[in-house]
Amino acid sequence: MISLNLHFKHLSIESQHAMANAASNPFQGRGMAPEIKNSEEDVKKITGHKYAKMVNSGNSAIMVAINSIKGSLLLPDQGGWNGVKKIADILNTPTHYIPTEKGVIYPDLLEEYLTKVSFKPSALFITSFAGYTAEQPVKDLYDICHNHNILLVEDASGSVGDSEKKICNGTHAHVILASTGSPKIVNVGNGGFISTNKKEILDKSAFLLKMLRADAVTCAGISEELKHAPRNLIKTINACNYLKNKIPSIIHKEKRGINVILPSSDPKTHSRILREKIKVDGRSIITTCPLYDRVMENAICIEIKNLDTSSLTQENLSQIKEDVTTALF
Ligand SMILES: Cc1ncc(COP(=O)(O)O)c(C=O)c1O
Repeated sequence: MISLNLHFKHLSIESQHAMANAASNPFQGRGMAPEIKNSEEDVKKITGHKYAKMVNSGNSAIMVAINSIKGSLLLPDQGGWNGVKKIADILNTPTHYIPTEKGVIYPDLLEEYLTKVSFKPSALFITSFAGYTAEQPVKDLYDICHNHNILLVEDASGSVGDSEKKICNGTHAHVILASTGSPKIVNVGNGGFISTNKKEILDKSAFLLKMLRADAVTCAGISEELKHAPRNLIKTINACNYLKNKIPSIIHKEKRGINVILPSSDPKTHSRILREKIKVDGRSIITTCPLYDRVMENAICIEIKNLDTSSLTQENLSQIKEDVTTALF
C-alpha cells in the first residue's frame, strides 16, 4: 500500500509575493488602487464581459446581483449554493426551486417548468457545476433564459478559466460571479468578483459595491491566481475524470466536475472511515450528503477541488480510489 501524500490547497508562492508587494506599497493617491483596477481588467479578460467589479467575498457578489435584480429568483432544488437563498431572504427577494436531475437542470426541464408556473422569475441562479460535480448545460440554459427574458446568473467559483469556454463564459451568462476564497479555483483565501455586460446591474448596487469592495492586497492575489486558474481547473477536472472512471456507481460519472460523489448506504460511518484514511494537513476533503450544496441523497463527496494540484498525482489518485472502494464496497 502506498501512503497518501496530500496537501490542502494553498496560495501559490507568486500570489504570496504579489500580495506582500501590494501590502508593503499601499496606494495613497485618489480613487481606486491600481491593483483593484488591474484585477477588474483581468476578470473582464477571463469572462469576456464588458464590466467587472471586485468584492470582498463570493457572497458579497451574490448580494450585489440579487439587490439589482428585482423580482423572484429560480434556484436548483439541489447542487446550488445555500448562500443564495439566505441572501435572497435578507433582501426579501422571493425564491422558487426548480426540479433537477441530481442538481443538473436539463434544458427541457427548464422550458417545461417555465411554461407550467404561474409566476415570472427575473433570474435563474446556478453554479457552473451542480454540486461542484456536474457541468450544467450553461449555453442551452442561457438560450432559454434569454428567450423568456430571464437573467442567467452563473456562480463560477468552481470554473474560472475553463479552457473549453463552456462555463464561466460571458457570451452565455448575463452575470458571472465567483468567490476567490479558499478552497476555490482562484484560491486567494478572500474576495470575489462580479462581471456583466449589463452596466445597470452594477449601477443599481453602486453603494453596495463600494461598501463591499475588495482591498488592493486581495486584488493583487486575484490577478496572480487568475493566471494559474486554467491550469488548476483542468488538472482538477482530469483528476475527477480519472476517479469517475475507476470508482463504481459515481453520480454524474459522464460529466465534468471538480469533486466526486458516490451513493452510500451509511454516509456517517463511511465519512468517518474515509476521514481516517485520507489525511490532508489536518483538514478534510470528505463531505457527507444529503446536503443542498451537493446532492440531496445519502452519499459521500470527495472534494478533489480542496487539494493542491501538486497532490493530484497518479499515485495519490490511485490510492484514493483504493481507499474509497475498500470503504464503500
Ligand atoms: C459555489 C459557491 N458560491 C459562493 C460561495 C461563497 O463564497 P465566500 O465564502 O467567498 O463568500 C461559496 C463558498 O463556499 C461557494 O461554494
